[in-house]
Amino acid sequence: MTPIAPSTAPDTAAQPRRFQRTAQELAAKGPDSAMLSAFRDEGYLLIENFMPAERCDALMARADELVEAFVPDEAATVFSTTSKSHIRDRYFGESGSKIRFFFEEGAFNENGELGQAKALSINKIGHAIHDLDPVFDDFSRTPAVARLAGAIGLETPLLLQSMYIFKQPNIGGEVVCHQDSTFLTTDPMSVVGFWFALEDATLDNGCLWALPGQHRAPIRERFRRGDETMVTDVMDPTPWSAEEAVPLEAKKGTLIVLHGQLPHLSGPNHSPVSRQAYTLHVIDGACRYLGDNWLQRPADMPLRGF
Ligand code: FE2
Repeated sequence: MTPIAPSTAPDTAAQPRRFQRTAQELAAKGPDSAMLSAFRDEGYLLIENFMPAERCDALMARADELVEAFVPDEAATVFSTTSKSHIRDRYFGESGSKIRFFFEEGAFNENGELGQAKALSINKIGHAIHDLDPVFDDFSRTPAVARLAGAIGLETPLLLQSMYIFKQPNIGGEVVCHQDSTFLTTDPMSVVGFWFALEDATLDNGCLWALPGQHRAPIRERFRRGDETMVTDVMDPTPWSAEEAVPLEAKKGTLIVLHGQLPHLSGPNHSPVSRQAYTLHVIDGACRYLGDNWLQRPADMPLRGF
């Protein structure tokens, strides 16, 4: 996968379309036709003022509590420090039905000790936090999100994956350009990402960037379970074109809905402020979920809807 990481917006960078709606308004009325056509045409939908600041604060406080209670055990440490793919794959591969903590790359020094406070070393929490933690469950199952999911065509929405992303000050890593359907594949494709800005996301602290309209292209890579390790199949090695990327700067409380085939990325955070966000990935239960997707739920923990 070729990384592209624009660090500043060129003067001519296209500005994203922005809508203003509260969750309450959307729960009552649903999205209007302009919003639905924006999503259909561009592959994303940016809604400002969606979540009240207090709910963002409550989710951040809950994430702080979870991190505080987390004792970095051997598995988590090993995941971040080993190159042994089977150990990494197991810690990651089981996380689809758990609350697991993933450290920033380079969080540990050569003696295996954290180079900064634990709370400033975590890259993300994943990937079943929406089902296992009551505060995240409630936030994820906001009625307006359910209404949006239905309006954009998810017949039987199932909440598949959640990630709490810290994008820590100074060390928050970049996320290279990718399509979410590369990682969560259904037949036909159906994954939709709901990305909540819990703090202001800016050019300086690593906001999202997207390639508008390119969600119509098929996935170029597929990440899946292989016989022994996770593997990536490359169907199309063409690099994504950085010039076409549009920065999706987002004020706290903004929701960005991302089509599963829309290429998107985020830059590193070299600023002194964090850029915390919460992402929820939803699929359509009417589509076939592939058996070799990395994320598999055990039989006693089936996916649930809103
Ligand atoms: Fe993504």
